[in-house]
Amino acid sequence: MTTWNLQGTACHLLVCGGSSCKKHKSGEIAQAIKKEIEKQGGEALIHTTFTSCAGRCGDAPVVISYPEGVWYGDMSPKRVKVLVRKSLVGKRFKKNILYTFGKDGMKASAKEGMKGKKKGKK
Ligand code: FES
Repeated sequence: MTTWNLQGTACHLLVCGGSSCKKHKSGEIAQAIKKEIEKQGGEALIHTTFTSCAGRCGDAPVVISYPEGVWYGDMSPKRVKVLVRKSLVGKRFKKNILYTFGKDGMKASAKEGMKGKKKGKK
């Protein structure tokens, strides 16, 4: 177990480690993110977490970026390398966006984000 002092962290990347995302190589994605962070010298700026299912299995593998609140689907090791590079210079990766957070909460950014069961309905 590790306890990090996260002061100064500018970006938190959450890599879904649920079963659907694992089948779509989220483990490789997490490793690609860590390698790119090290390569770019961004260890103090980007923190990563491997999570349980994020609830968007149909878009696996899913990566979520905070504080910007962007959800990415159908990611790959190559795409997350670009995501890390852009995150380190304060820019947003503009592809594969499923959702963004705004003043009205989470908003679907693509048709893919509109698919699925509506939350709160039975
Ligand atoms: S397993 Fe990743 S969104 Fe469900």
